Formats: sequence, structure tokens, C-alpha cells
Amino acid sequence: MKILLTGANGMLGSAITEQLSKTNHTLLATGKGDLRHNHLIFNELSDYTSMDIADRITSKKIINSFKPDAIIHSAAITQVDDCELNRDHCYSINTASTIELISIAKEVDAAFHFISTDFVFSGDDGPYVESDQTGPVNYYGETKELAEQYLIQSGLDWSIIRTVLLYGKTDQIKRSNFIYWVRDNLMESKPIKVVNDQIRTPTYIPDLAKGIIAVVEQEAKGIYHISGDEIMTPYEMAIKVARFLKLDEQLITPVDATTFTQPGIRPQRTGFHIKKAMEELGYMPTAFNTALAEIFS
Ligand SMILES: NC(=O)c1ccc[n+]([C@@H]2O[C@H](COP(=O)([O-])OP(=O)(O)OC[C@H]3O[C@@H](n4cnc5c(N)ncnc54)[C@H](OP(=O)(O)O)[C@@H]3O)[C@@H](O)[C@H]2O)c1
Repeated sequence: MKILLTGANGMLGSAITEQLSKTNHTLLATGKGDLRHNHLIFNELSDYTSMDIADRITSKKIINSFKPDAIIHSAAITQVDDCELNRDHCYSINTASTIELISIAKEVDAAFHFISTDFVFSGDDGPYVESDQTGPVNYYGETKELAEQYLIQSGLDWSIIRTVLLYGKTDQIKRSNFIYWVRDNLMESKPIKVVNDQIRTPTYIPDLAKGIIAVVEQEAKGIYHISGDEIMTPYEMAIKVARFLKLDEQLITPVDATTFTQPGIRPQRTGFHIKKAMEELGYMPTAFNTALAEIFS
């Protein structure tokens, strides 16, 4: 299968690139600017090219010439507060550019797999199943929900893969995520305040990449929730990291979200039920402590 990926420089995009480069699929990984990950090894069937998804002419040229069977669209503005403060830019990348990519996908008849988020939900009543009503509480969630709605009406073969709070080994791509933030602060004996009134089902990045590849290979259609299956608050995650690394958990104080003044509201109770992905895709999440052992090995 010929697969084009957007957002290959991101946390998720680099993991998808790493896994697909070891398969028999022909991969064109794309990202904004140069590839920034030296650890990625491309086989003879995989390559990288720069593609800014806001540049319609270049995106059209690249996609029309590669003629993918499937597009995995992972690129996005993912910082919730940036989205709140720079709404036009957030809309232009997360919604308008996605709509452009969908129309280019139509020209080459490619299946379109859109990576979306738990933040399309209100957070009033999670964990959520795929058919639950969306209702975002911040602008990031709104832009992703709008893109979802457009894709559903597109007439293409499509899937929407929603996920929750990614964590994984990202030191190779020089990106921090929550668990490194916890580790680094505790190692420097710095006290941290961590939210304990939000629930999530944190997602191990390699699991998600595997789940997305299963959707693409099985030509699955519709909405899939792919995340971990352990419900926890960020505070509980931090405690597990501290215990795993034998760091001082007394440095971690549980707080309510109201402690922080952030431009973007975070939904309170999200997380997913993942029965559909397990039954239909054979998806099986790694236990949080097993993932920590892999990350810090
Ligand atoms: N992280 C999470 O916890 C989480 C949770 C739920 C859903 N998701 C979804 O998962 C997907 C991947 O997220 P992630 O965590 O891997 O985010 P990430 O590390 O921020 O990756 C997003 C990538 O999109 C790229 N991008 C932004 N604007 C672009 C443009 N104009 N043209 C081409 N590429 C562009 C970014 O490029 P630069 O690196 O050059 O900035 C970045 O590499 C996103 O669709 C996100 O909405 C993430």
C-alpha cells in the first residue's frame, strides 16, 4: 500500500514513520521543513519530504505525484493555549488545511485517516465511546471537531482515530511530554503541582501508532477510540512515575484545575472506552507500568 503521512516531525508522526519504515508499505512521510529526527532509518520503500499543509499548491503537487492509497493526517496545532490565543492560525491548520487535504485526497481517491482528540468532548461525562455526542470546551477541540464533521460528509473512505494524552519515549525527538516533565522536576528535587480533578486514559505512543497502522491496513472505516485502558488523573500518573523511578513522591502536590489560570479550558472527565478498537482491530494497549519500563530502560 502507498501511504502518505503528515506531521512526521511530531511525537506521533515520528512513531508512525518508525513503524511503517519497517514494513512493506511504500511510505512518504511529510512534515514542515526538514526532517528533524536522526534516529529514523528509512528503508528503500520509505522517504521523507517537506510539506507545509498550509501551502495548498505544494501539498497538491506532492500528493498528486505520489498518488497514495491512504493518507494519515497527524499534523496539527496541538497546544491548547496557543489555539486559544491564535485562533486564526489554529483554524487555518487544524480545520482549513484538513479540508484542503481532504479535497486533494478526493482527486487521487485516497482513503483519509484523520487523527483527532478526546478534546472534541465536553468532559462532563467521560470516559467516552465512539458514538457519544461531541461538544468541545476549547477552541483546539472546536477546530478538530469541525474537521471531523467535514470528513464525515466528504464521500471519501475515511476513519477518525481519536486519542488521549500521549506519552512515550520522546527524548530521541527532543520533545518533552508529561512523564519526562515529572521525572526531570523530581530529579532536581523541585516540587510540582499536578491536577487531580481531571481523568484521562493516557496513551502509549507506540500502541497508538500500531493501532493507526491496523486501521489503514484493514481499510477500517468510521470512528475509533484508541488510548490506554487505565483511567487515571495526571496526579496519579505522576505518582506512578515517581514510584517507578524511585523518586520522592512527596514533592508532588495534588491540586484542582482551578489552581492554574490557562487561556484554554481543559475538559474534566475524558478518557475512552476502547472495546471497539480491541474487538475490530485487535488493538491491545500496553500497561502503564510496562510502558514506563520500556521508556526508562
Ligand atoms: N499529544 C496529545 O496528547 C494528543 C492527544 C489527542 C490527540 N492528539 C492528536 O494527535 C496528532 C499528533 O499530535 P502530536 O502529539 O504528535 O503533536 P505534535 O508533536 O505537536 O505534532 C504535530 C506536528 O504537526 C506539525 N505541523 C504543524 N503545522 C504544520 C504545517 N503547517 N504543515 C505540516 N506540519 C505541521 C508540527 O510541525 P512542527 O514540529 O514543525 O511544529 C508537528 O510536527 C494531532 O493531530 C493531535 O491533534 C494528540
